[in-house]
Amino acid sequence: MNDFFKCKGCARIVKVIQEGKGSLVCCGQAMQPLAGFQSVDGILDFAIEKEAEAHDFYIDWSGRLEAAHLKELFLTFAAEEQKHKVTLERIKQGTAFLPSASQVTDLKIVDYLVDIGPTPDMDYQEALIIAMRREKSSIKLYTDLAAISGDDELKTIFQALAKEEAKHKLRLENEYEKDIYREN
Ligand SMILES: [Fe+2]
Ligand SMILES: [Fe+2]
Repeated sequence: MNDFFKCKGCARIVKVIQEGKGSLVCCGQAMQPLAGFQSVDGILDFAIEKEAEAHDFYIDWSGRLEAAHLKELFLTFAAEEQKHKVTLERIKQGTAFLPSASQVTDLKIVDYLVDIGPTPDMDYQEALIIAMRREKSSIKLYTDLAAISGDDELKTIFQALAKEEAKHKLRLENEYEKDIYREN
């Protein structure tokens, strides 16, 4: 049984809790099963897209916030996510990343997705929560990639990426706490 399905149209993901005879349709088309990654390129593409999303998210919020130190923080994060994206693109072009096919397909894409997405009218606290969850899933992704990288140099790169995402997460958690304090 395949638990998760994704709509190619609107990117919605649904979880099947009981099998039936029908087929799942969204946006007028059959939903695609979401299992493991099919290839190394597939997982790198997923990570690259995640970095691009993170970059755009921080840029967007840096423009919305009044406080200069927060603007600066989010711009710094955006620049770091951009660097991560370039690093991953370089890895994709290289040949050093060679875990076994089964190691790749064992990774479940749903383990790296965040169950809430940004909305146009979300407030700063909601944005922080989404950002913290995304950073957390990035830490897991890079930690898992480091674990299956046969090549030592690559292992080090993925560990460094995981560390940097952990730093982002911690900084956001601090900001979140400060924000809660200000309100109460
Ligand atoms: Fe990143
Ligand atoms: Fe990050």
